[in-house]
Amino acid sequence: MQIEPAKSLSGSVTVPGDKSVTHRALMVAALAEGRSTIVGAGDGEDNISTRAAMTALGARFADEDGDIIVDGVGLRGLRDASAPIDCGNSGTTARLLAGVLAGAGVTATLTGDASLSVRPMRRVADPLTDLGYTVTVTGERGTLPLTVTGGRRSNTEPVRAVLNVASAQVKSCILLSGLFRGADTEVVEPAVSRDHTERLLRAFGVRCASTEHYTRPAEAHGTVPVVRLVPPASLRGRRIEVPGDLSSAAFLIAAGILRGESVAVNNVGTNPTRAAFLDLVQEMGADVTRRNRRVLEGGEPVADLEVSAGPLRGVTIEGAAVPIAIDEIPILCVLGAASSGRFVVRDAAELRVKESDRIEHTAGLLRAMGVDVEETPDGLQFEGLGAASFKAFEVDAAHDHRIAMSAAVAALCADGVCSITGAEAIDISYPSFADTLRSLGAVVDGVGR
Ligand code: S3P
Repeated sequence: MQIEPAKSLSGSVTVPGDKSVTHRALMVAALAEGRSTIVGAGDGEDNISTRAAMTALGARFADEDGDIIVDGVGLRGLRDASAPIDCGNSGTTARLLAGVLAGAGVTATLTGDASLSVRPMRRVADPLTDLGYTVTVTGERGTLPLTVTGGRRSNTEPVRAVLNVASAQVKSCILLSGLFRGADTEVVEPAVSRDHTERLLRAFGVRCASTEHYTRPAEAHGTVPVVRLVPPASLRGRRIEVPGDLSSAAFLIAAGILRGESVAVNNVGTNPTRAAFLDLVQEMGADVTRRNRRVLEGGEPVADLEVSAGPLRGVTIEGAAVPIAIDEIPILCVLGAASSGRFVVRDAAELRVKESDRIEHTAGLLRAMGVDVEETPDGLQFEGLGAASFKAFEVDAAHDHRIAMSAAVAALCADGVCSITGAEAIDISYPSFADTLRSLGAVVDGVGR
């Protein structure tokens, strides 16, 4: 992909459906009884992996006028997989599905592409094993392939899983396994992570919410919520509206902040357990106005976002903000490069085990842009350049869709044409990204429909 510097961008755009919500909607609707309609589902390769995986387990999906129609098979309706299920690049598919398979008592082996095959899976295998399920990871260093061996268990005691990583994927894995238990399932995380699973399950009639607070022993973080799921007899099929993906919108909002004359991104998810990006850009001095706030069928809040360009200052991203901004940290760093003052990311070691080592590859991108970056084990820090004018660069996306899109936005502010190799990784979450950038006035060569 080649991108020319942009003078000014303007336009009003939408983004694909939220990837996280789409994964959950596909899985939960398949486990419901009766028909569900998923409106505005994400169309990236990761979501296609979840749909294919659920189909291999017996779920039935059809496309109708842009919606996905799901004829649920019920909590007892999934079948063993006859061949390994390929989760592609999608960590969410693998980790959430592990919980569904364990709870449902279904036997299957999960595999993935080269990037997913080096990502940690013990974080789901260990708590599931502690709950009495048979889950093995056979990859070296606790990686895929992961096999769940089915068989019904009595599961009539309430359980509480205390996690040592703030991960919505791990929390959701345990909650989804709890749908099939005979007693309550509780999950405690070290910090709050996105609550899409809880909202969606509630929409399907399941009692699943944060209850009391739990104080972790020997930790100064104070109290964190306990999420409790009460197992339902069944789930009722329904209509689900998927919000626009904030993690995709973040790239356009950043482009608007750096080069926008008037940029609007409509129907974007603003779930507070997901949207620290919006608060952080505000703290950096950007102006992002939320209009037409509403709550979609399925429980997710959305708004239309209007963005104006303006001077930026550096911030520190740390602590509880990290899980709530986790996927937006690379693009926040690009905004940091244009800021005045120090920009710091800490407490974010999780970034090293994403689709790529995002600390290493974000630092690499920033260096190529002319920023002097110090990498730390759990983050990075640098002095912003004080203006959105970067050195022209050539970078490799490291098979990571969010590194590729962060580089594309940075390229709009470079002093010459930039080139990104491996930009086809963008299809993982946002196949129409290049076209949307073009519709705002950017000159982008290659990649995009
Ligand atoms: C996701 C949770 C996050 C995020 C990922 C999607 C989800 O991962 O980085 O892109 O849909 O639950 P972790 O739960 O591992 O932090």
